[in-house]
Amino acid sequence: MPGIIRNRSEIKRVKTYIQGFDENIQGGVPVGHIVLMAGSAGTMKSSVCFNILYNEALQGRTCLYFTLEQSYSSLVNHCINMGYDFTKINTVIMRDLSNFSNDIAKVKNSQKGNLIVVDVGCVRKEIKDVKVSENRSWLNVIKNIVKKVKNEARLDVFTLDSLSALYVLSRFENPRIELFYIFEFLRDLDVTSFLISEIPVDGSRYAEYDEDFLSDGIIHLRLTPFRRNIVREVSVVKMRTTKCNNDVFSLDFKNGQFTAMYGGQNPLL
Ligand SMILES: Nc1ncnc2c1ncn2[C@@H]1O[C@H](COP(=O)(O)OP(=O)(O)OP(=O)(O)O)[C@@H](O)[C@H]1O
Ligand SMILES: [Mg+2]
Repeated sequence: MPGIIRNRSEIKRVKTYIQGFDENIQGGVPVGHIVLMAGSAGTMKSSVCFNILYNEALQGRTCLYFTLEQSYSSLVNHCINMGYDFTKINTVIMRDLSNFSNDIAKVKNSQKGNLIVVDVGCVRKEIKDVKVSENRSWLNVIKNIVKKVKNEARLDVFTLDSLSALYVLSRFENPRIELFYIFEFLRDLDVTSFLISEIPVDGSRYAEYDEDFLSDGIIHLRLTPFRRNIVREVSVVKMRTTKCNNDVFSLDFKNGQFTAMYGGQNPLL
């Protein structure tokens, strides 16, 4: 957990790598924050998180993308189609946990920054291997992988795609208590975390239980119909320790770059 700072310049931040958006949140998300990336289907939640992790890996950091939602091949193909160059970073796909030591060695020995993608397939296998109770096993396996990566290599930025998939798989008996401990676990790790939250199209809530209160920040992605157009939009709902412009920005992705534009204005008028 971070200590008390003496002045604001000591707050280190992880960029969202959305040009025009970071400038409106004092440069990025404070290191160690737990941020919900909330949006309905197809709002580019996975892409925005992936973009953060890819760019952080380009800076030499070690990032972990945990996909419960989409297979690693589907995710990586989507990202190649978006123009990401995987030769610039060290990408390690974890599919089989019995190979964990080899995978971690690839991370430790790399001269480049690391992007580790953990596929749900390997988690499934682990669960079959260790006969733990269905309810807790998913969460424990995720926690163990995250902890091991952090302890045996290093870990700077983490994404869980998605919280909603975790709930479907885990069937928590008392989700509010379980969630409280998940957040405590992530806070103790001192890793910047982006948790993807699938929400209704009407944006009536940002999460399923109390995650919106427990999280340090919420970034809201949406698709807004306007006449016969659909506009991609992004806004910051909250970001602790940060002076924010809460305007709604249009979100664009071109030539490998996310850009936020027209904050507070209608781009189509
Ligand atoms: N350059 C591009 N290449 C590929 N897809 C793009 C591109 N620009 C926009 N997209 C759109 O991105 C969307 C998918 O993005 P992504 O998978 O990140 O969204 P998501 O919110 O995670 O979706 P889901 O709800 O399925 O998890 C698709 O609808 C696709 O049309
Ligand atoms: Mg997704």
